[in-house]
Amino acid sequence: MSELNDIALKVIGNGKGILAADESTGTMTKRLDSVNVESSSKNRLIFRETLFSSESMKNCIGGVILYDETIKQSGSSGKKIPLLISDSNAVPGIKVDTGAKVLAGSSDEKITEGLDGLRERLKEYYKLGARFTKWRAVYVISKEYPSKLSIISNAHALARYAALAQESGMVPIVEPEVLMDGSHTAEDCYQKTSEVIKRCFEELILNKVDLKGIILKPNMILPGSKCEQKISSEDIAKFTVKCLKDSVPSEVPGIAFLSGGQTEIEATENLNSINKINNTNFVMTYSYGRALQQSALKFWSKNIEDTKGTQATFNHRANMCSLASQGKWSKDIEKQNS
Ligand code: G3H
Repeated sequence: MSELNDIALKVIGNGKGILAADESTGTMTKRLDSVNVESSSKNRLIFRETLFSSESMKNCIGGVILYDETIKQSGSSGKKIPLLISDSNAVPGIKVDTGAKVLAGSSDEKITEGLDGLRERLKEYYKLGARFTKWRAVYVISKEYPSKLSIISNAHALARYAALAQESGMVPIVEPEVLMDGSHTAEDCYQKTSEVIKRCFEELILNKVDLKGIILKPNMILPGSKCEQKISSEDIAKFTVKCLKDSVPSEVPGIAFLSGGQTEIEATENLNSINKINNTNFVMTYSYGRALQQSALKFWSKNIEDTKGTQATFNHRANMCSLASQGKWSKDIEKQNS
């Protein structure tokens, strides 16, 4: 099992983090529509290959989460995408859940599906080069949510997935995302996130998951997007570190946050503040989708032939996130380098 710990540390250690490029075709279509680019298989591949061949892949990106379509594709040189990623010394990973569906018994909430046939799909992904996996559960916050039903059933599914991923020789990213949508306060987010994470670990332990061989991918503790509460990055960091210190067992090697709708700068600044006060043994880094890709996607959509320009935009963001994962980022460095 120490092999899984080695993989986890290779993905998130040494000032590196994860590029979450595992948007489903539906989500990627929304992202491409927003910049007026047609969502064809070819365009999705061109954009992703541009990022995966960037210079920052070597020093800032320890792992890339792929979607089923991409892990089976080859780049313009004919090289398989997982090989293109491992050539930069990053680890290819794969999203293996099949999405969040309406939860029977609580129709305003979601349950993530994908356990049927998972063992077989994992074997296939391993053969394609994946060495880590991702499963995302989502929870809404309101007065009555997340319900006990949603907390228990999503934790159960996450744990069964994680056990199967480890059985296949891959590190599971366990992602319980308490969504930013809504008017809840940071205190509400703290309390609900703690409850969700604690239940996940109860189920992981029950399912005999080796905690040294997982990566936790949680949300940061933030007020809801419709909440008027103003909170400093330092306070977000204090809430987040305390929440994780109190709810995550110490064997877990690391935590890689999702950006969840924060802007690129917010996600970078908050990660930096977290690392400035991180008094735990957990590595705390990024597993960002939008907060790593947004500017690069915008640039690319207007300059589709300009691979180098798109890569420079992505390299800047990845470098800033890498500095933040070490508590070395500042607004001045951000300005000087942009
Ligand atoms: O599951 C969510 C993605 O992997 C992270 O995406 O950083 O845009 O929230 P995000």
